Amino acid sequence: MGTTCRALLVCFLTANLVVNAFEPFTTTIAVGVTAALGRTIYNYFHESCDPKWVQLNATGLQADLESQLFGQHIASRIILKAVTGFMNNNNPKKPLVLSLHGWTGTGKNFVSQLIADNIYKKGMDSSFVHIFTSELHFPHASQIETYKSQLQHWIRGNVTNCAHSMFIFDEMDKMHAGAIDGINPFMDYQYKLDGVSYSKAIFIFLSNSGSTFITQTTLDSLKAGKEREKLKLKDMETALSLSTPLFIYRGVSNVVDYFIPFLPLESRHIVQCIMVKMKNMGLKPEHEKACELADEIVNYFPKDEKLFSSPGCKTIASRLRFYM
Ligand SMILES: *[C@@H]1O[C@H](CO)[C@@H](O)[C@H](O)[C@H]1NC(C)=O
Ligand SMILES: *[C@@H]1O[C@H](CO)[C@@H](O)[C@H](O)[C@H]1NC(C)=O
Repeated sequence: MGTTCRALLVCFLTANLVVNAFEPFTTTIAVGVTAALGRTIYNYFHESCDPKWVQLNATGLQADLESQLFGQHIASRIILKAVTGFMNNNNPKKPLVLSLHGWTGTGKNFVSQLIADNIYKKGMDSSFVHIFTSELHFPHASQIETYKSQLQHWIRGNVTNCAHSMFIFDEMDKMHAGAIDGINPFMDYQYKLDGVSYSKAIFIFLSNSGSTFITQTTLDSLKAGKEREKLKLKDMETALSLSTPLFIYRGVSNVVDYFIPFLPLESRHIVQCIMVKMKNMGLKPEHEKACELADEIVNYFPKDEKLFSSPGCKTIASRLRFYM
């Protein structure tokens, strides 16, 4: 980046000098050229809603999902397919709406970050990515009407700025139904308001709802001797989409394109997480050491089988630092 920036600046200065040498006839051109170059340089540093800043890198997303997300074969496959299909479609009929379900630490937040990283140059820091956490942004039930109109206002404003805006709603299961009702229309087919179309936006909901069911299904399947990787979306889907409205989604479930289950992680997945974290921390990733650590820093459930880890991969890094 450094060299290109410098090259642009040099180019800008040279153009100015050359143009100034031809005064006065070329004043108009000079102004034009300078303005154009100025804009180029401005756009180089300032995020804008064009393909240079906002464009899916499908190869990158696939590589990240394969190398960094562990134990989520169902989620990984659907997300790649859904996001790639959506971003490659120049004329989608509705926004992409993904609903991610599973216990804390199974990778829901992490996947949202991988998606953002591979669409926006600035990843989660992009001004086109918006995260709402129920308890932080919408804490008081008494103010639902205010939240609702604020949220509508924000979504409208941000999508007007950039059609490919992304909205992540964390702790969706704790969000008040009234506030959700407010965003429902934006996610529907062919919705237009004041000439603004919302069909290129991405909505991602994260929640724990359905986790008990996902865990039970995974457990039953393992006990029946079925390989984890043989579990299919349809083993989970019906129950998920049926169960979620009971939790809180109500009006939203009919605009969700994909309900995506995040399976509880087993110790081998925690070991993989630890190995990656060790590498990120500049340590040599040693399998044996990682296994020891996995036993030390993670709790396993259910009580009898002790198959799944709690709380997954989420707090591994901080606990690892403590133990090393
Ligand atoms: C897409 O991602 C791959 C893998 O991370 C990377 O090598 C490549 O440079 C990226 N392409 C663009 C255009 O950023
Ligand atoms: C975009 O959303 C953010 C919240 O993430 C909000 O603060 C901001 O005002 C919105 N922008 C517009 C133009 O509405």
